[in-house]
Amino acid sequence: MICLTLTEKDIENNLLQYQKYKKLIDVVELRVDMLEGAIPVDSVIRFPELCEKPVILTCRKVKDGGKFSQGERSRFNLLRKLIKGKFSYIDIEEDMGRNELEICVKQNGIAIIRSFHDFYGVPGDLFKRMHKISQQGEIPKAAVTPKSFADMARIFEGEKELRDIDKKILLGMGDYGVPTRILYKLTGSLLSFCSAPGSSQGAPGQITPELMKNLYKADTISNETAIYGIIGNPIMHTASPAIHNPGFHKLEINAVYVPFLVDSVRSFFLFSEKIGIKGFSVTVPHKQNVLPYLGIISNEVKQIGSCNTVVKTKKLWKGINTDYYGFLHPIQEDLETGNIKKALVIGAGGAARSVVWALRNYGCSVLIVNRTLDSAVKLAVKTGSSAIEKSELAVISMEDSQNRPDLVVQTTSVGMEPNAGKDPAEEYTFSGDEIVYDLVYKPRMTRLINRASQAGCRIVYGYEMLYAQGLLQFKTFTGKEYPQG
Ligand code: ATR
Repeated sequence: MICLTLTEKDIENNLLQYQKYKKLIDVVELRVDMLEGAIPVDSVIRFPELCEKPVILTCRKVKDGGKFSQGERSRFNLLRKLIKGKFSYIDIEEDMGRNELEICVKQNGIAIIRSFHDFYGVPGDLFKRMHKISQQGEIPKAAVTPKSFADMARIFEGEKELRDIDKKILLGMGDYGVPTRILYKLTGSLLSFCSAPGSSQGAPGQITPELMKNLYKADTISNETAIYGIIGNPIMHTASPAIHNPGFHKLEINAVYVPFLVDSVRSFFLFSEKIGIKGFSVTVPHKQNVLPYLGIISNEVKQIGSCNTVVKTKKLWKGINTDYYGFLHPIQEDLETGNIKKALVIGAGGAARSVVWALRNYGCSVLIVNRTLDSAVKLAVKTGSSAIEKSELAVISMEDSQNRPDLVVQTTSVGMEPNAGKDPAEEYTFSGDEIVYDLVYKPRMTRLINRASQAGCRIVYGYEMLYAQGLLQFKTFTGKEYPQG
């Protein structure tokens, strides 16, 4: 079940939120502690009758991440009044211990979710505590905070460790915990919480109802669902789930693509074997870190020493680099027809390595210019290219047309948000005959592209490479072309 946590400051706005999202969710949690001013007891009691979905009543105290700051006696008295409402569940913390309340709750036919929160880690006795709660006939709920990928992976052990408990709720908070929210069915959790965009999250790491229901289809995930994802650190900004998941849906492939915040690649590979991950994308800083775990690597990965796509073949993990092919895609014809013979590459980092190798493999002569000359020289030596000093850019742009580059590729992060407006090659004046390719895709129009476009150059935008490499990844994962339209 997908549960919307309602955290608005009054009952009217909570109802509005409910109405807005009710098609996407199965349960709502009313966070009474988030209401401002005196609690409108009668309105809260009536609330479940105004919802067609089951409602969880929660009044969280500050220590457990809520806003109820009065004493326990007040909380008890308040809950005692509110349980007159037709709530389906009440969330009471493990340390509440008020028999009187529990008896009344049970008499009113409300199921108890007995929760505990850990904002500092994943407790060693997590499963033991949940077992103990379930022995009292209550639904155990643990919201814990993984501080590493290995911590996150432990939460998935709940499926096996707690298999004999029919109903339980087990979630990881924060960015590390996001996969436990999306793949909640695989941890054995009864439900997963989400919160409306722009509202205060019920707990750190909650994602929106649209993402849960429409992008990840979290409530349809089962053991038959093929799991894919992206690993990186940081990762929550990634656009890749918004590319791959809609592709799966259009082709009716039972698969999901999840963002994984990964600090240790080793932990991720161990997890992948256990959970049966079929393939994943790799982003900063793991494009080289994954190499020791790959059983098969493609030629471009061997050359570049960096891998952005990993798939499970029969037994081995195979690594390829779709950045390499994604880069080539928009200019392939120009390379094949000899329209591009000379290239100037700005930058000498990881992205430049793919670019320079791709161009060299097509027989292009390549000049590399970089803030740090030393890195440019190293890359040039490896790839059989030449390195130039930044000051030489002005000289090159004064050369006659035969000696000027046919292609200029910008591979650095200069000009990218949040540092938009910067130009890493301002010494270079475009003639208008060059093809100018900026790998930066946010913003679409960088300062360099703007200048090149004004000079009349043909432009290749960073997003063209991004899409091309994403579509290739999709094909690598599924064996199918990305659906058009
Ligand atoms: P990526 O994998 O995206 O290429 P990287 O390997 O860290 O990232 O490489 C970053 C590239 O952008 C390098 O060429 C870097 O230049 P240095 O080798 O001098 O560090 C370049 N770069 C980053 N910030 C820059 C800046 N402010 N000005 C100029 N070049 C910059």
